[in-house]
Amino acid sequence: MSDSSPTIVLAGATGDLGGRIAAALARRGADVRALVRTGTSAEKQGAVRAAGAVPVEIDFADAAALSRACVGAACVASALNGLAPAILDLQGRLLDAAVAAGVPRFMPSDFSLDFTKTRPGDNRNMDLRRAFKARLDGAPIRATSILNGAFAELLTGEAPIVLHKPHRILCWGDPDQKLDFTTKDDVADYAADAALDPDAPRLLRIAGDVVSARDLAALMTRLEGRPWKPFRAGGLGLLGALIRVTRTLSPASDAPFPAWQGMQYIRDMSSGRGKLTPLDNERYGKTNWTRAADVLAPRPASSGARA
Ligand SMILES: NC(=O)c1ccc[n+]([C@@H]2O[C@H](COP(=O)([O-])OP(=O)(O)OC[C@H]3O[C@@H](n4cnc5c(N)ncnc54)[C@H](OP(=O)(O)O)[C@@H]3O)[C@@H](O)[C@H]2O)c1
Repeated sequence: MSDSSPTIVLAGATGDLGGRIAAALARRGADVRALVRTGTSAEKQGAVRAAGAVPVEIDFADAAALSRACVGAACVASALNGLAPAILDLQGRLLDAAVAAGVPRFMPSDFSLDFTKTRPGDNRNMDLRRAFKARLDGAPIRATSILNGAFAELLTGEAPIVLHKPHRILCWGDPDQKLDFTTKDDVADYAADAALDPDAPRLLRIAGDVVSARDLAALMTRLEGRPWKPFRAGGLGLLGALIRVTRTLSPASDAPFPAWQGMQYIRDMSSGRGKLTPLDNERYGKTNWTRAADVLAPRPASSGARA
């Protein structure tokens, strides 16, 4: 650790977003102390090092060790992923450790649509964030959550939105409802800026692009030179019924993102309740936001399959 660089303690740096945040922090000159589970493989620790962070093996159940690992940090940031054991229990221990170590700021692993405006009970993963926010807001530490809508990469196949074979954009409810998308790298860049910002507010809302189903259909028409259309599968009531059926029929699982949860996420976006407004995109002067067109532009066949 150098004398002048701020230290950021980061949990989740072996993960997809966390690795990107570690790299973005390192690019900004921060000393990144990446807390990884005891026994984390050499390969994963090597990737953390390659991102420019220093992996520190830790027993996350050892409160004293966790607190020692947080000493001197300007911010403790989390990119943990999972259900209650990760978002409530583990993040809770990390929060306690940050407070005990006198760290001034905490950044939880929210990275979602605006769960402060959606309805409790509608989205299992947003309920976990809401519960953690209540705990965090009662703790003697300042906090900043990054809200980024959906990862824009989901448009390339994982989320059932851009349907390549029928040339349709699947939507529920209003095809003109605007939806927020941000790429993982843009989220990581912004999260790094916020982690290093002593004056960051409690909530920061960002979107690399804001598009409706109709906008996406027009975009795909332009990109492919053949007609695309929105395909309204039904209203939000029908989507709600499908979520209930899918959830009932799905085997219980610890997976953070089962199909029914993805459907809950789409409902919160399609209803407009999770819409991010106003946006804080300009706070750190970032101008190179990745647009939906960049994500969806056709790539050489070798660079990845399309749904
Ligand atoms: N808005 C969106 O569209 C969207 C989409 C996807 C994800 N996200 C959010 O982005 C955040 C990061 O997700 P991700 O996809 O980057 O997750 P990921 O790749 O699954 O990484 C999860 C990280 O959490 C760590 N972790 C999980 N459980 C742990 C435990 N019990 N003890 C210690 N470490 C633990 C993992 O460590 P190991 O490597 O040791 O397992 C890993 O570093 C989450 O908040 C997630 O919900 C948002």
